[in-house]
Amino acid sequence: MRSLRQRVALLCAAALAGGGLVISSTVASAAAATRYEAETAPAACDGIIESNHSGYSGAGFCNGDNEIGAAAQFTVSAPEADTATITIRYANGTTARPADLIVNGATALSMSFEPTGAWNNWTTKTAAVRLNSGSNTIRLNPTSTTGLPNVDHLDVELGGAQPPPGWPSQCTRTSPIVCHFDVAPGNYEVTAWIGDRDTAGNTSMSVEARRRILPAVNTAAGTITAHTFTINVRQPEGQPTGQGGTGKSGLDITFAGSAPKLSGLTVRAANNPLVVYLAGDSTTCDQMLAPWTGWGQLMPTHVSAGAVVANYGDSGESSGSFLRNSALFPTLKPLIKTNDLVLIQFGHNDKSTSASAFRGNLTSMINQVRERGGNPVLVTPPVRRHFDGNRLTPTAQHVNGAGVNLPAEMHRLGDQLNVPVIDLTAKSKALVESMGPNDSARLYLRQAEDGYKDNTHFSEYGAGRMADLVVEGVREHNLSLVSYLR
Ligand code: GCU
Ligand code: CA
Repeated sequence: MRSLRQRVALLCAAALAGGGLVISSTVASAAAATRYEAETAPAACDGIIESNHSGYSGAGFCNGDNEIGAAAQFTVSAPEADTATITIRYANGTTARPADLIVNGATALSMSFEPTGAWNNWTTKTAAVRLNSGSNTIRLNPTSTTGLPNVDHLDVELGGAQPPPGWPSQCTRTSPIVCHFDVAPGNYEVTAWIGDRDTAGNTSMSVEARRRILPAVNTAAGTITAHTFTINVRQPEGQPTGQGGTGKSGLDITFAGSAPKLSGLTVRAANNPLVVYLAGDSTTCDQMLAPWTGWGQLMPTHVSAGAVVANYGDSGESSGSFLRNSALFPTLKPLIKTNDLVLIQFGHNDKSTSASAFRGNLTSMINQVRERGGNPVLVTPPVRRHFDGNRLTPTAQHVNGAGVNLPAEMHRLGDQLNVPVIDLTAKSKALVESMGPNDSARLYLRQAEDGYKDNTHFSEYGAGRMADLVVEGVREHNLSLVSYLR
């Protein structure tokens, strides 16, 4: 009988490689990698070999045709059947490009190559695959008409992957799989081995109060992917004032999807992660109860291990109430450590706040974050869905009842105090107006689908789009979180 390790194609990926796949730090080191250049036969490129974007290795790279199935193929050899860690080096412009990783004709993994921002910006993505003894084909097959990113090379490192630890006693054998760890509030490094050695899976991961960590991933039979994330545990686990329920103490993890498969789960205290605190209202917060969803609940899908979102958003809070309520800013402040980020988003409930009071409240938060060595970031509030013709009304854009243009005040303050401002008002306005008065309804809560009609609060879809926009702003300002984005 073959050993477990031989039967399992253990997929791991290097930290920061994107996709949230990281190799566990307990993994033994492996043999040196062999490099296979995309421009060197027998490698094949359904496109052209080019050298017009600097930074590639060897003589060039494969610029695949921008078509479904226009692949880059490598032929790699292994002295014996083994698990191999492969590292794909690529550059991509500004849109994510999905592709299947096909090993000897079988799809081992669906991957997404994230934008690198420029064609001369190269990065790597790592996966582990099962190789046969002798010659193997590894094919990167694009599944959208965007085609592949430009592909530079493949590094293949044989052996060295750690087998999954096996079924965790803290989890139910149900679908969804529900796990509970009795841990104190804090930040934890969680590694989930997703997939099964015998059956195919489709598995998503969420934690605590409906916080999404990983959208559903497909795994072929015999493929197990190790994913590591840093997770914030609080009590109450949703909104700090307990609105909507306080949840269970400890860490709760749910693996859902159409066929959730898990082959191991470990939890240990995180070592000094970069914490991104969210100070906001009901559009931001961890909502215990569906269908309400704050954008902070979807933000963790963008963040790799080593960084963590700690969402102190709370329904109904204004700049002033958040600052003063002992469960909110005064609780958050002492937790801030050097270089942590605090994203501050208010406006929805500052309906009659004067300009000077609004600026005063924000200034106080900014100064107190800085006192702790943290880095404040202002986030202007996402728009409400109030149209006048094809355009949003001033109220939708947070000109309040006292005539104060709250986003404009945040910009002015940001300039004065040298605080980066993520203009979520402008970004969400562009999104909502581009979708138009009808289609934009699905960003918010709808009577028929959600049981409530609400033009302020987001559906899960809308919260996800808002989280995308916040992350876009994080990249534009090159905040320290950028190096942890998936
Ligand atoms: C640009 C770029 C190419 C790239 C292509 C693409 O033309 O110069 O290197 O392959 O975009 O979008 O695929
Ligand atoms: Ca191309």
